[in-house]
Amino acid sequence: MSKEIIVSGIRPTGNLHLGNYLGAVSNFVKMQYEHNCYFFIADYHSLTTHPNPADLHNNVKQVLVEYLACGLDPEACTLYIQSDLPQIPELYMMLNMHANLGELERVASFKEKARTQPNNINAGLLTYPVLMAADIIIHKATKVPVGKDQEQHLEMARTFGNRFNRVYQKEIFPEPYAFNYGQELVKIPGLQGGGKMSKSDGDGNVINLIDTPVIIRKKMSRAVTDTGPTEPNTQPSAAVQNLFDIMKLVSTADKLEHYKNLYANCAIRYGDFKKDLAEDMLNFLQPIREKIIDIQRNEMLLRKVAQIGKEKANESANKTIQECRQAIGFKSF
Ligand code: TRP
Repeated sequence: MSKEIIVSGIRPTGNLHLGNYLGAVSNFVKMQYEHNCYFFIADYHSLTTHPNPADLHNNVKQVLVEYLACGLDPEACTLYIQSDLPQIPELYMMLNMHANLGELERVASFKEKARTQPNNINAGLLTYPVLMAADIIIHKATKVPVGKDQEQHLEMARTFGNRFNRVYQKEIFPEPYAFNYGQELVKIPGLQGGGKMSKSDGDGNVINLIDTPVIIRKKMSRAVTDTGPTEPNTQPSAAVQNLFDIMKLVSTADKLEHYKNLYANCAIRYGDFKKDLAEDMLNFLQPIREKIIDIQRNEMLLRKVAQIGKEKANESANKTIQECRQAIGFKSF
């Protein structure tokens, strides 16, 4: 198998949850040994919503700590903070000169933001896909492990890269495509009966990697179920199916089978089921949580990791930005 160049960014919005881990980060841990991976914390992207400086720093730190605790290895991959790369805003500026207002206004995520935050429709929000394209193509990435919601942004990254190549008659950027590690996309559902595990539906919907056993038990006891099966062998409701889906990921196959049988025979007691699931969840997360607590205190390690990432990412970004500067016609005297 040939090595791909893979780039993935995450906006620092606080703690990671079990959905982030099972859906993405656990795959990053495997990918880092097979491909040339760039994982970064997208703090430039955060600026669209004007975070206060202390929050911004804490959120960046938290993601860095949790990425390390999950097993990202700064020697194997390039793990860096976006704002350590001045080449990204430089490329963003270059790409902006060829991005049309009309195409940016048509982006679904922009239209959504314009609707939900009409008082803060800034130019950064409009050009968010340009910044994201710069993130990806600065390393000449060929693959980006993102879900459906980012597909349009990825298409724009291809558009902007191709356009740059065409305008300046140089084959600088390859086309990046979505990448799915492993066989299928695992969907990690939330606890409140809705779709996927996501913080936007409240803290009660997610199990954070740093949640203590007490919190996990409490959240699980409040997880949404239904009034229970009344006839044998029926389909569970969406909320109960969600809990089965989570159990499949953190419990043994035997245990899942056991509760599915109880359900099929109308003998399931949701209280016991949820308690049992809570215990498996907290056992599953315990080693990660212990590492988080350890790493959080280790300022020296964090400084070292950020420095290594910065150096490796700068090396790659410098190569590309030099090519771009040359293509454009910037020349030193
Ligand atoms: N837009 C992505 C999100 O909201 C985060 C992101 C920024 C990203 N730059 C990226 C993802 C580059 C992949 C590649 O989740």
